[in-house]
Amino acid sequence: MPKKTVKDVELKDKRAFTRVDFNVPRAQDGSISDDTKIRAALPTISYLLQQGAAVILASHLGRPKGQVQEDLRLKAVAERLEELLGQKVVYVGEVTGPKVTRAAEELKPGQVMLLENVRFHPGETKNDPELAKIYAALADIFVSDAFGTAHRAHASNVGIAAYLPAVAGFLMEKEITNLSRILHDPQKPVVAIVGGSKTADKIGVLTKFLQLADTILLGGGMANTFLAAKAYRLGRSLVEKDQLQQAAAIMETAEKHGVRLCLPVDATVAYDLHEAKGARNVSVDAVPADMMVVDIGEETRKLYAAYIREAGTVVWNGPLGVFETDAFARGTIAIAQAVAGSDAFSVIGGGDVVAAVEKAGVAGKISHLSTGGGATLEFWEGKELPGIAVIQNL
Ligand code: 3PG
Repeated sequence: MPKKTVKDVELKDKRAFTRVDFNVPRAQDGSISDDTKIRAALPTISYLLQQGAAVILASHLGRPKGQVQEDLRLKAVAERLEELLGQKVVYVGEVTGPKVTRAAEELKPGQVMLLENVRFHPGETKNDPELAKIYAALADIFVSDAFGTAHRAHASNVGIAAYLPAVAGFLMEKEITNLSRILHDPQKPVVAIVGGSKTADKIGVLTKFLQLADTILLGGGMANTFLAAKAYRLGRSLVEKDQLQQAAAIMETAEKHGVRLCLPVDATVAYDLHEAKGARNVSVDAVPADMMVVDIGEETRKLYAAYIREAGTVVWNGPLGVFETDAFARGTIAIAQAVAGSDAFSVIGGGDVVAAVEKAGVAGKISHLSTGGGATLEFWEGKELPGIAVIQNL
């Protein structure tokens, strides 16, 4: 169902409560290590300002569970936003209260303020209607641009829509358009790449891809579980014993539907997840008893790249190795390069893979990098996301 966007409403002299997803990765010293999510919200913010709106931004950061947590304040985010926008961002350091109300009232058209981390308020994740009313009282219109949070029903992205007209921002619109292209009539052949460590997290999306894809390429810790279900012995590798039956059932369904489900044929093995010493490439039927699989192997990278080259559409979620350790990120990076080099319409979701694509220096060659993690997965599973459902239909 097409949704109303900021283009469909009058914004001049309006106060726009704008929910964004500034849940950015941070380094150990608390500084922002990747500002992609802030940059992704700029087109909407700039448009609102140009149209003469006063913009009240709200976001969460981390999971502070309804309490103030000093290291999760949005001060550094406000400063980075200020640099990126090239204008002052009013930041009062509170979510609600007289200071917030006054700052919002004093905000003039073309000015921006950022509320404190909305998850400092206990009502936020409970979708408390009283809190939603407080947010709504600050503004005339609700702009929903936090795609990454759209799978959560919280006060600042869902509850507020009961009290203000809700429209999508450009990021929300772009995510819906690009992610939908995979679900509805994608250009064939469709190649789905699924990685990550936990099979349980990916069952929903795998089930959907079994209906959509011609080829599914598996990697990451979860591929071990699939190999183990085929009786491969994988030494000390991570294998989820409680998911073996599930993995076997997925392989059976793939065969029934005529979907080519590929497992790694070789792997990088190591003694430790974080230490490259002694690591080597072996066939998956020759994993030493005292070693563990930490990445897809060289032969697998070539095989997977060949399928990707032929694809009309590529969709990818989850890293293919222990990506945090540089030496074991090579498989993921090699596949990122393959996707970038193909002519396919490519969509990548999930922070780790997006980081791999950035690391490989090929982000500009991917058709769409989704800002969602859980939200992207749930969207692909075919679920209706509450944060999208509340946006007015056209
Ligand atoms: C994300 O980073 O995926 C979103 O910001 C959602 O965060 P959450 O899982 O803490 O709700």
